[in-house]
Amino acid sequence: MMVRFIQQIARRRLRDGTADCHERVDALFSGADLGSRIGYERFLVAQATAFLPAERSLEEGGIAAVLGDWPSRRRSHLIAQDLRKLGQQLPSGEDAPTLNGTPALLGGAYVLEGPRLGAALLRRQVPSHLPVAFLSSNYPGAWRTIVETLDEDLRDSHAIDQAIEAARSVFALFERSGQQMSVRRITDVA
Ligand code: HEM
Repeated sequence: MMVRFIQQIARRRLRDGTADCHERVDALFSGADLGSRIGYERFLVAQATAFLPAERSLEEGGIAAVLGDWPSRRRSHLIAQDLRKLGQQLPSGEDAPTLNGTPALLGGAYVLEGPRLGAALLRRQVPSHLPVAFLSSNYPGAWRTIVETLDEDLRDSHAIDQAIEAARSVFALFERSGQQMSVRRITDVA
């Protein structure tokens, strides 16, 4: 039991240390109208605006050496595929933070893995004729194994703090792109 408790420390601290960020991105992205083509397109463009540069930062920082199964986790090509089918340009993207060192890389990867948890629910709202490769991406055990890696590789408080700081900077990318998405939506209604 003690081992299981210890194994939750890094993940719990990451969750608690980014809870305010999650609340904000959840509120922003939950506002998307996924049941309409235009709403879904905006959602995907906003996701891509943050996701593509964040994933690129992870790759430039060397995430493949930290997560041996990284090729199965990457999803930029799936968003790109959906956007292409929708006739949308790839967004130029946000300026991504630099992520160097195992703690920062794992903090960033934690943020990108989280949305997988709710993707199936979101996918059900999207009309069936629209492309949903990104929301359908299925990698069984992705969440369990990243939580295990966090707990194995982030063993001291300093490393966990570095992971939290990196995770917050990646959440901030999503917050900015989510804000742009809601501004566009409100302007359209007005
Ligand atoms: C439509 C908007 C969103 C909703 C409704 C939502 C909802 C949720 C829910 C219900 C969970 C808990 C899942 C579980 O424990 O089984 C979760 C976890 C998580 N989400 Fe989101 N989310 C949203 C957007 C995002 C975005 C945009 C990101 C990051 C870019 C994100 C990152 C995370 C992370 C990292 C976790 C794991 C937290 C933990 O350690 O338990 N979420 N989300």
